[in-house]
Amino acid sequence: MCGIIGIASNKPVSVNIINSLKKLEYRGYDSAGIATLSDGFINEKKCSGRVDELEKILFKTPSNGNIGIGHVRWATHGTPSTINAHPHSTEEVSVVHNGIIENSDELKKKLENRGLAFKSQTDTEVITLLITEALKESNPLNAVFTTIQKLKGSFALGIIFKNFSNIIIGARRGSPLAVGYSEQENFLGSDSYALKSMTNKISYLDDGELCVLTKDRVDFYDTEQKKINKKIHLVSDEDNTSNKGSYKNFMSKEIFEQPIAAKKCISEYIDSLKKDINIYNFPIDPKLINKIILVGCGTAYHSCLVAKYWFEELTNVEVEIDIASEFRYRKIKFNKKNLYIFVSQSGETADTAAALDICKKNNVKTCSIVNVVESTIARNADWVLPIHVGPEIGVASTKAFLGQLIVLYILSLKISSLRNNISSDFYSLSIENLKKIPEKLKKCLETETNIQLMAKEFLKAKGSMFLGRGSSFPIALEGALKLKELSYLHAEGYPAGEMKHGPLALIEEGLPVIVIAPKDKYFEKTLSNMQEVIARGGKIFFITDNKKSLISENIRSGIRVPFLGDLLSPIMLTIPLQLLAYHVALLKGCDIDKPRNLAKSVTVE
Ligand code: AGP
Repeated sequence: MCGIIGIASNKPVSVNIINSLKKLEYRGYDSAGIATLSDGFINEKKCSGRVDELEKILFKTPSNGNIGIGHVRWATHGTPSTINAHPHSTEEVSVVHNGIIENSDELKKKLENRGLAFKSQTDTEVITLLITEALKESNPLNAVFTTIQKLKGSFALGIIFKNFSNIIIGARRGSPLAVGYSEQENFLGSDSYALKSMTNKISYLDDGELCVLTKDRVDFYDTEQKKINKKIHLVSDEDNTSNKGSYKNFMSKEIFEQPIAAKKCISEYIDSLKKDINIYNFPIDPKLINKIILVGCGTAYHSCLVAKYWFEELTNVEVEIDIASEFRYRKIKFNKKNLYIFVSQSGETADTAAALDICKKNNVKTCSIVNVVESTIARNADWVLPIHVGPEIGVASTKAFLGQLIVLYILSLKISSLRNNISSDFYSLSIENLKKIPEKLKKCLETETNIQLMAKEFLKAKGSMFLGRGSSFPIALEGALKLKELSYLHAEGYPAGEMKHGPLALIEEGLPVIVIAPKDKYFEKTLSNMQEVIARGGKIFFITDNKKSLISENIRSGIRVPFLGDLLSPIMLTIPLQLLAYHVALLKGCDIDKPRNLAKSVTVE
């Protein structure tokens, strides 16, 4: 999940490349690099670490030139190091790459057998040398085209050429790549977010396509190397929501803007006058849907798990859920009466995009629930339901998870109503309840002081357990994921009823156990599971929306969130868990917005 930028301009490009790389750091931050063309030479500079380190190098030794490419890396082949940082250059060619070349070892051996030497451990350097070799017999476009025919796997490429000092070539297969347009300069980028500060006119390459940029024009070519036209999208500039403002980091901003984000998301779908839900253009008549299959990764998968409970409770539609990296390799029995829903904040997750692609190849109807409406998954699905929460920069997803839950809940209500599975009174009451969510979320955020006290109890622990039943089980998984990815502490989410089937062996004196027990049909059963843990010395942190007293000498501390009906409890209960992970990570001094080893958009499998 690396970040790519390229600029062809009538003025020096290095400052804009660096600024764009800073906006791309959410995609990967192991190392960074830039290559510009100046005085007839490729001028490559790169380093391990953040873009700030690269900027210091440029302060000392500026890079001139009106053509250049830049890259931030999330290591796939080769350790994070200066030598493995992109760009990878020869005298003639410099390349930045996002993706994985699956036959790079085989290609590398062939090149070494021809006497060519490699400096790095990366698959990208193979591309650089192949293009350099091909250039000996053909022009840059043909050289790139010939090269990518030899590659197996995914790539988004940005390439500059010593002897063709006015062009940048881009190529895309399986990893996103966008083009931006401006006066006297044109841009190449991994996504529109990196380009938005320079232009709002964006085109998106599709798999197999290439582009040739100069400062004055951009030409696109299809897989047959025929010239094609690409639509120019005017992207909305939500950039004002992607500055930290007075917040210490993006994650705290995104946690605390959830009431606003929820209000915006809900307002996009609820018609307050008609007291109805504005969801139309179903790709299948909702009354005829045979089965709904929900697919996602990580936090997006957890939103699918919660949605399964909603679809089961509210509709008579059969529901399946799957992790995208599993779905894409299963022998699926596709059915044209099924609706396949793909949930993805970034809309660029490779496994989710690949799973969607398989559905398209099998001619079944697809829906994407995304935050980035210009993304690959959004553009490739038959039907898009945006979550409208604004750019989410923190790698650990918070407001996007909330948006996914809200849209999935609204969709389950709409389908249920259209299939007459619920009464019109219940439908109207549910819509009224939806509108209360933003205010109730503010109450949930007020638990922060208690959470900060709780957080201290996790620092010395060797691990922790998150337990829940019903729709609280996916919230337990999500709470554990948040704690893991932010604080690097081990945490497990488990169905509370499963503890006696093995995980109870993990419980020992003082182990923190978060019990998520909303006022629903599982409440009493969860309490008895909690007793099993208490009996073995577990330290209970109790999270509920039940007004019933929490006082018990065996509960270390209790957090109560507002009750908005048992269906909406997952939306309320997830907030304290986001705050817990945040404060534990803060106490540990972890990087909140860019946790180690992770990236915001996993565009490689
Ligand atoms: C979220 O906290 C994680 N960083 C990660 O699990 C994420 O949800 C997953 O990679 C899916 O990303 P997507 O929603 O952009 O597809």
